[in-house]
Amino acid sequence: MTNTTLSGSDFLLVEGGKRLKGAVKISGSKNASLPIMMATLLTKEPCVVRNVPTLLDVKNAVELLELIGANVKFEDHNVFVEVKRLQNYVAPDYLVRRMRASILVAGPLLARLGKAVVGMPGGCSIGARLIDQHLKVFEKGGAFITVRNGYIHMEVEKIKPVEHTFEVITVTGTENALMFLSRCEKRSILRNTALEPEVIDLIEVLRKMGVDIEVEGRTMVIRGNPELRGFDHTVIPDRIEAGTLAVAGFITGGDVVLEGVCPEHMGSQLEKLKEAGAVIEILGLDKIRVIGNSKINPLEISTSEYPGFPTDMQAQFTVLCCIADGVSQITENIFENRFQHVNELQRMGAKINLKGRTAIVFGQDRLSGAEVFSTDLRASASLVLAGLVAEGTTVVREIHHLDRGYERLEDKLNTLGARIERITNARSTG
Ligand code: EPU
Repeated sequence: MTNTTLSGSDFLLVEGGKRLKGAVKISGSKNASLPIMMATLLTKEPCVVRNVPTLLDVKNAVELLELIGANVKFEDHNVFVEVKRLQNYVAPDYLVRRMRASILVAGPLLARLGKAVVGMPGGCSIGARLIDQHLKVFEKGGAFITVRNGYIHMEVEKIKPVEHTFEVITVTGTENALMFLSRCEKRSILRNTALEPEVIDLIEVLRKMGVDIEVEGRTMVIRGNPELRGFDHTVIPDRIEAGTLAVAGFITGGDVVLEGVCPEHMGSQLEKLKEAGAVIEILGLDKIRVIGNSKINPLEISTSEYPGFPTDMQAQFTVLCCIADGVSQITENIFENRFQHVNELQRMGAKINLKGRTAIVFGQDRLSGAEVFSTDLRASASLVLAGLVAEGTTVVREIHHLDRGYERLEDKLNTLGARIERITNARSTG
């Protein structure tokens, strides 16, 4: 098994038919790490973010923080950041294109410096992914916003308290709004906010920094603090990585223990796994055992905001449905174009009819190995899972998508008995 640097031209060879068995440790959450890393821009004091996964999006976030003037050390899953002085307030286009979450610098930069310029996030492979809701909060808080030469220019003299109801529930929109308001002493109110565990983890950090935030239902009341402190925080486990490995264990008829998880964050996923026939044992506060079954029941899934079924697990559960004993129905309500894995799964023999936002999946005994192409992060994970239950070998290409959000998924699966080989082009991305 190769174990060299990550490269855009790497691909995976997945040998199907292995039953997964054993224990594996879950990494820290990508989508909690990114906003928390950006929150370090709010203070001059040193900050420590622990349990950060080593993956491309985190490396991109480190690059962005350094461009802005942060002193960053990323070592053994801990990120040490100190931003004594902001030297720059531009998130360049090439970084925003690589990682849409770069927009999360806007809130902290406006709060600390009163200025931010961010490359305009264009369309994205899973949907339009607008940022109008972020900008509406900034404008209500007194920011003046213009779009020039492909960049969003934002400026604010003194942030005013905001009372705002989000028109759509947005994860990074809520996070950006909280960071934007974190230094404004007067009381702000945000309604219809996202409540994903990653948002709550950011709130924990902002509280450690000295911001007073009350959460009641989808309403948040914020009283900021102009003198924010440094913090030391351990990021929550990645519920999507955990879910991906749970599905892998289940569909291979395996018996796997996921260590270092937060079962409470995985409610809707575990419910669906049980409905599909899995035996789930919660072993204490941070361990889950998932036991497969020779019969897989078909499912009805409809993605929605937390605590509903996560859109980030839709592709992986589509694979489960491909080998279920009956017809499943999957509706994607969050992103309008998040079914690109369907084409690739069809190349592996999957029987799926796509009608708008709904996929009707006709289960069958197994899939067949093929050469398939990743189109986005979670789609690429689903193709690896499909390879595990396919006859023969599956070649998963364009796995730079996978590397954006999973810390060596193939190594974790191999620990459990899978046979996956990464073929690495000698060129290193550094
Ligand atoms: N939306 C708007 N206007 C806005 C913001 C969002 O119309 O200003 C719409 C979006 O177009 C989408 C819906 O609202 O249809 C929800 O989007 P949201 O803003 O919640 O998504 P996000 O914050 O861009 C985060 C995660 C995604 C995850 C979604 C939904 C991070 C860095 N990304 O994205 O994670 O799918 O929430 O839970 O936290 C992934 O990890 O693979 C991933 C895509």
